[in-house]
Amino acid sequence: MNKNYKTLFFITLFFTPVHFVSAAELPDIGQLFKQKCSLCHATDKKTLGPAINTMSNEKKVLLQAIIKGKNSMPAYEGKLTGAQIDALADYLLANQ
Ligand code: HEC
Repeated sequence: MNKNYKTLFFITLFFTPVHFVSAAELPDIGQLFKQKCSLCHATDKKTLGPAINTMSNEKKVLLQAIIKGKNSMPAYEGKLTGAQIDALADYLLANQ
C-alpha cells in the first residue's frame, strides 16, 4: 500500500456512516441530560420534578416515565432515539 492509498483508507474509515451513527446516537449523555432534563431535575434536590436520588431504581419504571411521560413530565417518545432514552435511564441509575 503506498502512502496515498493509506491516507484514502483512513479517510474512508473516518467518514463511514457507522461512525456518524454512533457519534450522533451516543453524544455525551451528561450533556444531553443537561440540555433536556436539568430544567426540571437536579441530582439531589427537588426542582420542578423529583431529584434523581429520589427516583425509582427500577430501570423499567424510569424508561416508562421518559418514553410515555407522567403528569407534567413530558413524553420523549419520538423526540429522542431509543438509544438515547436507554442511556438516560442508565445515567439516572448511575447518579442515584
Ligand atoms: C418540564 C419539566 C420536566 C422535564 C423537562 C423533564 N422532566 Fe422528568 N419529571 C418531571 C416531573 C414533574 C416528574 C414527576 C411526575 C409525577 O410523578 O407526577 C418527572 C418524573 C420523571 C421520572 C420518573 C421518576 C420516578 O421515579 O417515577 C423520570 C425517570 C424522569 N422524569 C426523567 C426525565 C428525563 C430523563 C428527562 C429529560 C429527557 C426529563 N425527565 C425531563 C418533569 C420534567
